[in-house]
Amino acid sequence: MRLLIDDANIEEIRRLMDLYPISGGTTNPSILAKYGDDPWTLLKKLRTLYGEERDFHVQTIAMDADGMIGEGRHIAEVLGKNTFVKIPCIPEGFKAMKTLSKEGYRITGTCIYTPLQAYLAIESGAQYVAPYVDRIDNMGYDGVEVVKIIQDIIDNNGYEAKVLAASFKNSQQVLELCAYGIDSATCVPSVIDNFTNSAAILAAVEKFRSDFEKTAGQGKTMAEL
Ligand code: G3P
Repeated sequence: MRLLIDDANIEEIRRLMDLYPISGGTTNPSILAKYGDDPWTLLKKLRTLYGEERDFHVQTIAMDADGMIGEGRHIAEVLGKNTFVKIPCIPEGFKAMKTLSKEGYRITGTCIYTPLQAYLAIESGAQYVAPYVDRIDNMGYDGVEVVKIIQDIIDNNGYEAKVLAASFKNSQQVLELCAYGIDSATCVPSVIDNFTNSAAILAAVEKFRSDFEKTAGQGKTMAEL
């Protein structure tokens, strides 16, 4: 499963990319609004930070197909290689996806709460579909189960589209989908850090270090012996 960052904080993204195997990033208008810069300035900085080899998913704002199509072309043109146009999975969105996919743009169907939204996005030409795991949980349904159904739809119909699961609030949600074999998960920095944020893990590593120092001397490492 590929891991992406669902955030727009430049310092945090730089830190996470330095530490972890990060395949790209996602944004939405609410994420961009948190960080003050005008959206295009921030999006260009993020694109440079990720580098053109990583995927970058950027959302349209318009509510009508013509508006989404215009935004989609502009997003792909300005942000370049490996940019995916995120289009909400509403009826006008499917109409926009059909046109943009025929023109060769790469599309991520987003705002997915139900499996049939994903199905329609895929049939309309989306390469990725982005179900919102925790938001579905908060509606009283099972977000992980919805993603699994979407993956089954893809597998059982022989579709080439992939799942980019989003809206995670804890490691368990990510783990279940990783084990199920979905293609990608996009997470906020705190969720990614929590994959390994355990006192037991840190204590184990520190014990190894203190045992080593008993024979090698304080502050020594293997490289210094
Ligand atoms: O980027 C879209 C999705 O990840 C939304 O997440 O945290 O606002 O539910 P959240």
